[in-house]
Amino acid sequence: METVKVLDNVYWVGALDCDIRDFHGYRTSDGSTYNAYLIIDEKITLIDTVKAPFVPELLARISEIVDPKKIDQVVSNHAEFDHSSGLPQVMAQIGADKPVYSSKMGEKALKAQMPDCRALNFKTVGSGDSLSLGRLSLKFLETRMVHWPDSMFSFCPELGILFSQDAFGMHLATSRRFDDEVGRNVWGYEALKYYANILTPYSGVIDKLLQAVASSGLMNQVKIICPDHGIIWRSNPGEIVGLYQKWVKQTPTRKAVLVYDSMWKSTEKMALELSGTLSGQGVLVKLMNMKYNHRSDVVTEIFNAGAVLVGSPTINNDVYPTVAEVMAYMRGLKFMNKIGAAFGSYGWSGEAPKIVQTQLAGMKYQMVSPELRVQWLPDESALPPIRDLARAVADALPREPVGADFGL
Ligand code: FEO
Repeated sequence: METVKVLDNVYWVGALDCDIRDFHGYRTSDGSTYNAYLIIDEKITLIDTVKAPFVPELLARISEIVDPKKIDQVVSNHAEFDHSSGLPQVMAQIGADKPVYSSKMGEKALKAQMPDCRALNFKTVGSGDSLSLGRLSLKFLETRMVHWPDSMFSFCPELGILFSQDAFGMHLATSRRFDDEVGRNVWGYEALKYYANILTPYSGVIDKLLQAVASSGLMNQVKIICPDHGIIWRSNPGEIVGLYQKWVKQTPTRKAVLVYDSMWKSTEKMALELSGTLSGQGVLVKLMNMKYNHRSDVVTEIFNAGAVLVGSPTINNDVYPTVAEVMAYMRGLKFMNKIGAAFGSYGWSGEAPKIVQTQLAGMKYQMVSPELRVQWLPDESALPPIRDLARAVADALPREPVGADFGL
């Protein structure tokens, strides 16, 4: 089992999960990694563990470097199961009486989730606390709601390594461990997808955290960022931090996402007409038929768009199920600064567009006009109001075209 040296005396000892395709509702098309790090010093320290089934892989990697029983202490930066469910097994292997450093909320969450953690030797730490490892040390910074109440960063000032748990991570299973080994087109999309699906609702908290970290001067000391998922940022950690500083603002772009489904292709015809007119207005358009697209890919496209147009046929006086599902997912993510529009074809009752309109307005989307409904198949007479709606959306969007990086 190969290990990866991050720096002298710091190793990646995590696990690759190439098969996972669903991460609590997020489609992990390229799998994921559960990153854990081993620091060799007078006190041998393990930073985070892995999902329980991957503990043998973690222990095998550690054993390439040191006997796991020689680990002196564990730091738990995040209590979510993908990083902590292996903790009881790990402690059983290394010695259950050894200290586990976590935030106060981390101790609470770990004990509440796993009865096997209740007897562990927790040492709680908070922002500003330090832990000596010998030559090296760790300084802790609580990062509540980035993205759980327990979340915290651990920073090694002597090496300039920030262990950032989920922040700056991505779901990507690759044998390559570093940013300079993976193309920007790959990591850029995956990092954006991760932010859009996991971190969007906490953008305000992240913004404040990044500002506090910048004003404390900590960021100037960071040479390497080691997140709990995906690649390690060693070539230019400032690039991913800069992207986060941009993403927290959720600045609208001249891009529109058409999210829809269609029963007998009438709503689809409306979507295609809207798309054509928007494109003619210089808007970057993404058509996302919910028959073929996953909610987590849809919200990734929505994240850097300025407008979201949602189309639904009416079924049983309500919204089409696939559209209702993605709307629920969108609602939870609390996107900001979006323009909205609702449309749909119907046969006789036609409630869906109004329901969609009301829901989007409830999510604080700025609606450009009342919902647009067309009875049965849109014919020539139905096209002018569809084109008018597209023009109203285009007029409400920023004028500047989206660049070749698709707003990344
Ligand atoms: Fe990767 Fe919030 O766990």
